[in-house]
Amino acid sequence: MFVMDKLDTGDKGKFYEQLNAYLVGLLKEEKYWLAALANAAALLYTLLPDINWAGFYLYREGELMLGPFQGKPACTRIALGKGVCGTAADTRQIQLVEDVNLFPGHIVCDPASRSEIVIPIIKDNRLIGVLDIDSPHIARFDGQDAKGLSSFVEVLNRYIDWPEEFK
Ligand code: SME
Repeated sequence: MFVMDKLDTGDKGKFYEQLNAYLVGLLKEEKYWLAALANAAALLYTLLPDINWAGFYLYREGELMLGPFQGKPACTRIALGKGVCGTAADTRQIQLVEDVNLFPGHIVCDPASRSEIVIPIIKDNRLIGVLDIDSPHIARFDGQDAKGLSSFVEVLNRYIDWPEEFK
């Protein structure tokens, strides 16, 4: 059993330190990408307040393919450069979208989503995929979330030996 206390969300810096420590605990137990990402999505969905979707799209055969996630069923394939996820993958830049309705080409998976953050996963200069998190609240994410979630992705990259399939 994985023991996981509810985290204090008052201090985002501390919150992400603890969240990432939980992730290290999970990854020390299991490094196989599928199981690891499934638990990583569950960790985010369980502990991050005010979100309605958390998961991964993985770069495969020239497009992003839906990976492990928690939330409502989502679109399965996203072309590079399309939507918030495809833009993050194409530019390799974090996309912090305060109001998804103002993002040109935003792909609607759940109409309840109002803001979104997407962190590209890059290892050794190779695009692996993206971490995508949606919120039903406008401007749910800020620079501290971007920093904390970038560390989250760094931990994933440190422990997971990504398969050749993602390229
Ligand atoms: N909104 C994303 C699509 C994925 S869902 O949010 C899960 C986008 O515009 O790329």
